Amino acid sequence: MSKILIVYCSMSGNTKAAAEAVADGAKGAGAKVTLKKGADAKPQDLLECDAVALGSYDAFSYMGGELKDFLDRAFYPTQGQVTDKPYAAFVTHGGGGKALQSIESVAQSFKLKKVAEAVLVKGRPEGQAIADLKALGAKLAKVAAK
Ligand SMILES: Cc1cc2nc3c(=O)[nH]c(=O)nc-3n(C[C@H](O)[C@H](O)[C@H](O)COP(=O)(O)O)c2cc1C
Repeated sequence: MSKILIVYCSMSGNTKAAAEAVADGAKGAGAKVTLKKGADAKPQDLLECDAVALGSYDAFSYMGGELKDFLDRAFYPTQGQVTDKPYAAFVTHGGGGKALQSIESVAQSFKLKKVAEAVLVKGRPEGQAIADLKALGAKLAKVAAK
């Protein structure tokens, strides 16, 4: 069974709802899912997973501080040990969404491998957005199982 880590930050619940949809999709595809807020995630979580989803709200066109804090804490302890590990990103926003670029840039620094197009959601995910987030989780699970 592949192990999927989902690390996210959320101030008012939109990204939390998105993260839960990603988790549903990954579980539905047979993966074991660890869902953590950035503050609770540890570098070891990144080392132990087969694939990771990184989720954030857009905060002044950058990722939220709690996800950034996790990535800052995880960088040196995982350096050189997560090369080509599959990842995908999801962002909720208020009409912008440029925060995605910051996540993708930092993921490149970790040398993670992007395996699915990011899902961008305006506000609280519903309907098609939930389906897209579930599909992202399922895709991560399938790639990680190979
Ligand atoms: C401090 C702050 C800065 C924000 N900056 C942006 C922004 O630059 N672009 C944007 O599209 N939305 C911005 N937003 C809106 C949030 O990204 C959006 O409401 C998001 O869905 C909130 O997610 P959450 O409920 O998980 O906290 C900002 C919100 C906050 C609180």
